[in-house]
Amino acid sequence: MNTVLTGIKPTGMVHLGNLLGAIRPAIEMSKSSDDSRHIYFIADYHALTATRDPKLFKEHVYSIAATWVALGLDVEKSIFYKQSDVPEIFELQWLLSCMTPKGDMNRAHSYKARVQENEENANKDPDHGVNMGLYSYPILMAADILLYDTNQVPVGKDQVQHVEIARSIAQRVNQYFGDETLIEPQEVLQEGGAYIPGLDGRKMSKSYDNTIPLWVTEKKLRKLIMKIKTDSSAPEDPKDPDDSLIMDIYKLFASQDQVDALAKRFREGIGWGEAKQELFEVVNEYLKEPREKYNELMENKDQLDEILKKGAEKARELALPTMKRVRQRMTGF
Ligand code: TRP
Repeated sequence: MNTVLTGIKPTGMVHLGNLLGAIRPAIEMSKSSDDSRHIYFIADYHALTATRDPKLFKEHVYSIAATWVALGLDVEKSIFYKQSDVPEIFELQWLLSCMTPKGDMNRAHSYKARVQENEENANKDPDHGVNMGLYSYPILMAADILLYDTNQVPVGKDQVQHVEIARSIAQRVNQYFGDETLIEPQEVLQEGGAYIPGLDGRKMSKSYDNTIPLWVTEKKLRKLIMKIKTDSSAPEDPKDPDDSLIMDIYKLFASQDQVDALAKRFREGIGWGEAKQELFEVVNEYLKEPREKYNELMENKDQLDEILKKGAEKARELALPTMKRVRQRMTGF
């Protein structure tokens, strides 16, 4: 069976860019009727490399779980859990650590970026601020992937090297302990879906502080949409629907008929305030039900606990044969 696995980092405040670029396509996949096995998990322990606030950590884990469930992830058909509920991952990580040359970690992009930052800041210690979790992050990620004989890992460009590292670890294990001790995974490069512009027209990103968060109130959502950058043309001036931020975002939520109708009004002349109101309405329509579901889940976390627990049970069942095989081949036990 073909196994497809996706890891989700729990960060605060999911925004429209995350929704359209990553979450929506992944959820579509969970509903598709191909006969691949789909695994989605919250990489909560990966976040510990940088988090020192347990309250916030927990909140972020629940928030990301609620987000995926509220937006329609099929938790029956797919396997959805949080990493820390599957102890086999951490056992496998140790076994893999013992098979990973330290030099491979020195070459990992995220670690190298930190070292470079330290050099630029004239810090005497090139490893300043680097904990072992950050350093061996790729090995934990390899364990995430290899534990279920994963074949395909959909990732963005920034994560490709990590999948390559996982593959190279699997290859080394196989050389020593026999073919197919571990399955060698392939990355499936996600182009990031559509380009999602933020409030100022640059790519929507937390680092530009130009995002529209998903789970704000209707009122706040409207207020944010009204802030989208526009030019100073007068309401009656004809406007180019192919050169408008509002239209770009509108297209991602509206039907073709709605898009055609609004494009016509653009050409005839429409006030920016009015265009933004139209945009608000389609975005809000899209988010209305999920927002209620999200709020309900965040108020009753028992439901989320139950979903994650069931997911972890399914994951551990799948992990069992892999662990048995790897343990047996590597240790004789
Ligand atoms: N490192 C990934 C990120 O930052 C998250 C992740 C953890 C992951 N383990 C994974 C992704 C396994 C794919 C497969 O986005």
